[in-house]
Amino acid sequence: MSCSMSDTTGNIWTALDGPAIAPSLLSVDFANAAPQIDAVLAAGAEMLHVDIMDGHFAPNLSMGPPVVKTLRAYTDAPLDVHLMVTDPGMFLRPFADAGASSLNFHIEACGHWQTGQIAEARELIGRIRALGLGCGVTLKPETPAEAIATIVASIDFVLVMTVEPGFGGQSFMEKMLPKIRALRGMLSASQRLEVDGGITPRTARQCRQAGADTFVAGNNVFGAADPAEAVDELRRAIEDQ
Ligand code: DX5
Ligand code: ZN
Repeated sequence: MSCSMSDTTGNIWTALDGPAIAPSLLSVDFANAAPQIDAVLAAGAEMLHVDIMDGHFAPNLSMGPPVVKTLRAYTDAPLDVHLMVTDPGMFLRPFADAGASSLNFHIEACGHWQTGQIAEARELIGRIRALGLGCGVTLKPETPAEAIATIVASIDFVLVMTVEPGFGGQSFMEKMLPKIRALRGMLSASQRLEVDGGITPRTARQCRQAGADTFVAGNNVFGAADPAEAVDELRRAIEDQ
């Protein structure tokens, strides 16, 4: 398991060892967030996943830098910030200043990615590195693994969306499993592979068998009567391989 919960310095992704759980705050009860966060961290969740949506890249609005700032003031836990926005470059520094531990952006938000031109992605990776943060690139369900072949060596982790970005509580897309396997084959042993969307103990286990090591779960954790028990159940599913 895990890096220390008090360790927000350095790159959290390279410090991780073994499967990790990242509860998604998109599903937290915001009027009751503090005890729910305490519960999942006490249960051993390695990080908190923070979904950022601009109402354009994804058909929903969520949180911005002020929310990340309040989270950072509340907890030392690593904050895994997932940028579902049309212009990620605009938000790198604001989220870094707010206290993000890592940033991941969508390859589909980078101009001309479909023709293999990844200059914009390279620039974003360089800027995230210069900010001293962990760096990931994210793929929507329809985007093939090959879309990131030329940049994969320069990032800490890949995030595979296993639902369409936008909402919690959707059903896991089993047809993502071959892509997870393909991406695992493109990554070195020290690079991480995160899955996000419809993750339950059953689907986490499927993803683990396909090569994923980091598991975002929103509805399954914060929608549960006992979020800590939900983290325990996920842990049993992914460590029991
Ligand atoms: C969806 C978000 C997810 C979401 C997952 O666009 O990226 O992180 O919170 O929620 P569940 O686990 O409920 O599918
Ligand atoms: Zn997410």
